[in-house]
Amino acid sequence: MEYKEIGAVKLSALGIGTYGFGGGLTRDTSNDRRDIEALQYAIELGMTHIDTSEMYADGHSEELIGQAIRDFDRHSLFVATKVFQSGLTFNGVIEGCKQSLRRLGTDYVDLYLIHWPNLKIPLSETIQAMDELVRQGSARFIGVSNFSIKLLKQAQELSHHPILTDQVEYSLLVKNPESDLLPYCQKNDIFLTAYRPIGRGRIRAGVNQVLDDVAKEHNRTAVQVALNYLICQENVLVIPKAAQRHHLEENLGSMGWRLDQEDIRALQQAFQTTIAV
Ligand SMILES: NC(=O)c1ccc[n+]([C@@H]2O[C@H](COP(=O)([O-])OP(=O)(O)OC[C@H]3O[C@@H](n4cnc5c(N)ncnc54)[C@H](OP(=O)(O)O)[C@@H]3O)[C@@H](O)[C@H]2O)c1
Repeated sequence: MEYKEIGAVKLSALGIGTYGFGGGLTRDTSNDRRDIEALQYAIELGMTHIDTSEMYADGHSEELIGQAIRDFDRHSLFVATKVFQSGLTFNGVIEGCKQSLRRLGTDYVDLYLIHWPNLKIPLSETIQAMDELVRQGSARFIGVSNFSIKLLKQAQELSHHPILTDQVEYSLLVKNPESDLLPYCQKNDIFLTAYRPIGRGRIRAGVNQVLDDVAKEHNRTAVQVALNYLICQENVLVIPKAAQRHHLEENLGSMGWRLDQEDIRALQQAFQTTIAV
C-alpha cells in the first residue's frame, strides 16, 4: 500500500468507498455477509481509509462497517463519514454525528465531512458544530465534499480546525478539479479525495485505445492505469468502491508504481472530453 501524508496525517492513498454496501439509497440486508467480508478483505489488503455517509443505504453502510471493523485495531483505521445536506444546522450536525457513531460502534470518527453544501443554512453555523465535534473528541478531523474553491475557502476561514480534505468527483472522465481545485489543495495542504475514480465502473478495458495502450505498455489493467493516473497527482487519494474480491485485488495493483509524464499527457489528451460508454 502507498500512503500520503499531510502534517501528522498519513492515509492509505487507496481507500475503500462504500456506496452500495448495504443497499443504495435504501437499506438492503440481503448481501450483509458478503459486504462485511469484502470490507474486511479490503482492510487486510491495506485499504484502511474507509469512506461512508449517514445516507448510504439509509445508515446501513455505517452499520456494516461497524461490524466489519470490530475485530481490527481501531487506531490502525481511518474512518470517514458524512452529514447530509439536510442536517447542517448546529444541532443537526451534532445529532447526525452521534447517530453515525452509534451505527459505526465507535466513539470517534477520524474524519467528519459535510456531504454537500446547503446554501439555505449558514456555513458558519455548520462549521461551528464541526469544530464542536473536534473539541468533544467525536471527530479527529473535519472536511467538506462537493465544495467549490470559493466555499472551501469560506469553510477554512470559518473553522478553528484545518479542513483536511475536499472530496469531489475526479477521474479520467471528470477532470475538472485539475483546473483550479486540485492546485489550490496542493498549495494549501488539503487532500483531494477522488470519488467515483473509475466512473462507477465505466472506465475499463475497451473504452479508450490510449488507455488500453498505456495499460499494455505497463503490463497493468485499464482500471489500474486510471487509478494510478489520479494517485500520480500530489495530495490525491482515491476511494473506489469494490465488493468483489478480484476487484479489490486489481485495485491494489494500482499502487507501488508510477505512470510517466508522457503517459499522463497522452491520457489527458485522450480524455479531453467525456467519453460515451
Ligand atoms: N461525496 C460524494 O458526494 C460521493 C458521491 C459518490 C461517491 N462517493 C464515494 O466514493 C466512492 C466511490 O464512488 P462510486 O462507488 O460511485 O464509483 P466507483 O468507485 O468509480 O465505481 C464503483 C463500481 O466499480 C466497480 N469496480 C470496482 N473495482 C473495479 C475493477 N477493478 N474493475 C471493474 N470494476 C470495478 C464496482 O464493482 P463491485 O462493487 O461489484 O466490485 C462498482 O460497481 C463511493 O462508494 C462513496 O464512498 C462520494
